[in-house]
Amino acid sequence: MADSGFRGVLILSLGLGLFMLFLGTASAQLSTGFYSSSCPNLLSTVKTSVRSAVSKEARMGSSILRLFFHDCFVNGCDGSILLDDTSSFTGEKNANPNRNSARGFDVIDNIKTAVENACPGVVSCADILAIAARDSVVLLGGPSWNVKLGRRDATTASQSQANSDIPAPTSTLSQLTSRFSALGLSNTDLVALSGGHTIGQARCTTFRGRIYSNATNIDSTFATTRQGNCPSASGSGDDNLAPLDLQTPNSFDNNYFKNLLQNKGLLQSDQVLFNGGSTDSTVQNYAKAPARFFSDFAAAMVRMSDISPLTGSNGEIRKNCRKVN
Ligand code: HEM
Repeated sequence: MADSGFRGVLILSLGLGLFMLFLGTASAQLSTGFYSSSCPNLLSTVKTSVRSAVSKEARMGSSILRLFFHDCFVNGCDGSILLDDTSSFTGEKNANPNRNSARGFDVIDNIKTAVENACPGVVSCADILAIAARDSVVLLGGPSWNVKLGRRDATTASQSQANSDIPAPTSTLSQLTSRFSALGLSNTDLVALSGGHTIGQARCTTFRGRIYSNATNIDSTFATTRQGNCPSASGSGDDNLAPLDLQTPNSFDNNYFKNLLQNKGLLQSDQVLFNGGSTDSTVQNYAKAPARFFSDFAAAMVRMSDISPLTGSNGEIRKNCRKVN
């Protein structure tokens, strides 16, 4: 009797578990084959455009990867970052983390034009950005992953949420951890995704505080080198660039983590990942084992790409990525 009761409970909880699993997947509704019949050449069309942009300027691959991160961290991966401000609409492009900084919008427009020519009105801007980010990483030598598709585009955007939801370069480890965990991303995901800073550039205004701080966690020779092109007074020089990975800013590799071991992280939010705290061992691990970094980065990108997509009949398929239909 007790045994069959136990079995009943077991079956019930298994059933409940399966149901929850179904709900979890059904609510995301993204799949790699989403456009396989409606736009069979989508992936090759996007790749061709990204390849041509990155061959003109390698940094563009970094800029596109960052655009996708800034899209996903504000209300999910819904293409909201791509909307232009108008006299009656304030989008995210002029939020603090994006103003004079987010770039690559023209490249996304070009991809959208090519995709619209092939399959009009079918593919969302949010999905185009997700594919372009993956292609950018691959073109710069990084890992690949299968991009799940089926996101729809937002009809709204939020400058204030972009200001609060995208982490600042002055973040502490606990601030980073709490922002990532609010989105279902672990500390391992945080470290792996921060490895995106193995490519691209940052403006003086984002690292000035750190290189003039006399902090114990910055290599003094490195600080002096960076001071050479980033004056201490704000104003002129604010937009001067420095590579986030001082060695190979156009190659997706694990040098970012090797830099951190030597206190040569450019941003405070980089160096806090290796500063005597709980993420030190992951940084050490990625510095030693590039293959491990690659596979964790790819898995973390898939998780980031899954943040709150609009699916089904929510949102729309924008005709022009810069404005709502
Ligand atoms: C962990 C929190 C993060 C913070 C605080 C942060 C902050 C920053 C800052 C301040 C810049 C320089 C922007 C400028 O000066 O114009 C930057 C650039 C960049 N970030 Fe992040 N970031 C973070 C996470 C990420 C993630 C998760 C990715 C992608 C997976 C990413 C990819 C990039 C790339 C590729 C660039 C260079 C962009 C370019 O060259 O145009 N970042 N980030």
